[in-house]
Order: sequence, then structure tokens, then C-alpha cells
Amino acid sequence: TQTEKNGHKHFMAKEIAEQPIVIADAIRSYLPSGGDQVVLPGADLDFTKLDRLTMVACGTAFYACLTAKYWFEQLAQMPVEVDIASEFRYREPPITGRTMALFVSQSGETADTLAALRYCEGKADKIVSVVNVPESSIARESDIALPIHAGVEIGVASTKAFTCQLSVLLMMALKAAADRGTLTDDELADHYAALRGLPTVMNAALDQNPAIKTSAQRLSEARDVLFLGRGLMYPLAMEGALKLKEISYVHAEGYASGELKHGPIALIDKNMPVVVMAPRDTVFDKTVSNMQEVMARKGKVILVSDDDGIAEAEDGVWSIIRMPHVHSSLTPILYSVPAQLLAYHTAVAKGTDVDQPRNLAKSVTVE
Ligand code: G6P
Repeated sequence: TQTEKNGHKHFMAKEIAEQPIVIADAIRSYLPSGGDQVVLPGADLDFTKLDRLTMVACGTAFYACLTAKYWFEQLAQMPVEVDIASEFRYREPPITGRTMALFVSQSGETADTLAALRYCEGKADKIVSVVNVPESSIARESDIALPIHAGVEIGVASTKAFTCQLSVLLMMALKAAADRGTLTDDELADHYAALRGLPTVMNAALDQNPAIKTSAQRLSEARDVLFLGRGLMYPLAMEGALKLKEISYVHAEGYASGELKHGPIALIDKNMPVVVMAPRDTVFDKTVSNMQEVMARKGKVILVSDDDGIAEAEDGVWSIIRMPHVHSSLTPILYSVPAQLLAYHTAVAKGTDVDQPRNLAKSVTVE
């Protein structure tokens, strides 16, 4: 059942393993089998009537929003702003034009996110939330509440809720692209087919668990770890770093690969593991040259990539995590698996309390 570990050592391990199933549920409920369009459950939303999107969240949900910004901009050509709820609510940002305010929250009870939503009432054209708990305050106070179907999440560090949030946000972006005519029918059909195949590919990523565990052993000996990514992998680099610090207490930072030169490169030496998230995509070559800058300074690179990327770039890397090939828009969902498992195995190796890390709460209902 949802509230037992079902043979896993920790809830987090169980929730990571459950992702192919819950993502399949989420995909089925927005992309009905046999259908050829995204249907937002219970929501009559026309993206041609909206000009911009303001997304607000905290923690892991914030990184889901940052990822979605790339999707809404690239696929649907919609301008998007993303903010942390605690900053947004006090800045008094003007909300102009035809704006959708979109709040992402696993619990639906995070105090800052709820306050940000209330700030948008009467200002935004539509208040929409993407939540895991349909009865939550954030869901109730939204015009439209879209469920992510992750099921109960008990581990304090969010895993399956994150990938379900991403899946739902991607399907929203595809709905926006279809409404606004920014993708062709063939392009849309490619995305839908790739989404329907995602649970199978997620299983293949989970099969890499032994290799990820070996790399994590190395991380557990580090004091600081840097995560690098470009494009869609940049928010995931930050999420990977967040996961690692939350549960293993190893200091980690996520950086855009292109910003390496503007600061973090000063930290690189032989003691610094650098996790490079880099599927063989359109920005791959640039990321590889950043990775070489790390290796030239004796930094220890853990490369997470697919067969093509590994064949091109494996020379000199310290450790390799091989991911299956997937449609380029799905890489943040797929590459979440190694990000989560690296943090998980590092924490297990260090003997920390994986499901209940010190000082953290599952849901922050006070400011
Ligand atoms: C806490 C949790 C995080 C979560 C964040 C936002 O910090 O420990 O895992 O991402 O709150 O929570 P929400 O329920 O709004 O997604």
C-alpha cells in the first residue's frame, strides 16, 4: 500500500522505484489512450486567450517550474516568469496583460505559495495550480487545480512528485502549443508517442541503479559537489544538488555549465566531484567543453549521458552513468532518476536519516 515501504529500505527508495507507474497514471489522465490531444482534466483552458505565465513555488516544485519555463517558451512560445514564493509575495510584482498565475505544490499547503496565490487573486486572468493533494488549500483556492497523480509521498525529499509535476507541466505546455499553433501536428504526435513510452524508459533508467550506487560511493567521500547542466538540464542540476544536500548533508551546488567560468571554476581541484548532466542534445558540445575545463583542473567528472554522448566524451571522465536515449523534451524527467539515486545512495553510505533528514519538514506551513 501507499503508506508502507513494501520491501524497500526507505520510503524514498520505494517512491523512486514507483515513478514508472505513477507517471503512467499521470500521462494517461492527461493524454487519454487512443486520443490525439492533451485534455486537462476538468479544465476548460484556452491558451490563445493568455499572453504570459507567472509560475511560483518553493523547493523542488520551484525547480519543476524552472524546467517548465523552457518547455512553455520553446514549445508554445509563451513568455514565462518563475519565482520563489517567499520572494514573489513580498516584492509586489505587477501582473499585467492576460496572465495565468500557476502555482506548483506537492502538499498544496506551503504557506508562502498559498500567500503568493492570494496575492494574485483579482490580478491574474486565471489562477491554476498543479498539486498532489486535491483537497489542499492551494487546490481549493485555485480556479483550476490539476492533479499530478503521484500518490502519497512520505519521504521528505520529493522524488516521484517532482517527476509527476514535470510530466503534467510538459503536457500543459503541449496543450498550449496545440492551442497556439506553435507545433505542427507531426511534432505534437512525436511528443505524445514519446510521453506514452516514458514509463518504459524510466524503468530502463532505474536499471542503472548499480552504476549509480558505485558513483555515489565516491560522492559520499566528498565535502563539496558541483552539478552542471545546460538548457533543460540546468534546473535539474540545481534539483540534483538540492537532493544531495537535503539528505546526505554533503554541500552541493547546481550551476549552469556556461557559468562555470564566472566563479565555480575557482573551486575545482582533485577533491571536487562534478556531476555533468548531458544528454546528446543541441547544447551537448558546449557542455563537453565545460567538462573539459573541469578535467584540465583535475576535477573528477561523473558524466550522466546516453550512448552517443558517452561515445563522444568519455575520455578522461571519472565515472559514467548511462541513460537510455529519449525524446529531447523528456530528458529532465528521465535524468531525475540518476539525480535522485545519487543523493539516495550517498545518504545511505553516510548513514543519515534518509526519509526524515534533520531540520527539514515535508510541508512548510509556517513562514
Ligand atoms: C519542503 C519540502 C520539499 C518541497 C518544498 C515545497 O521544503 O521538504 O521537498 O519541495 O517544501 O513543498 P510543496 O508541498 O509546496 O511542493
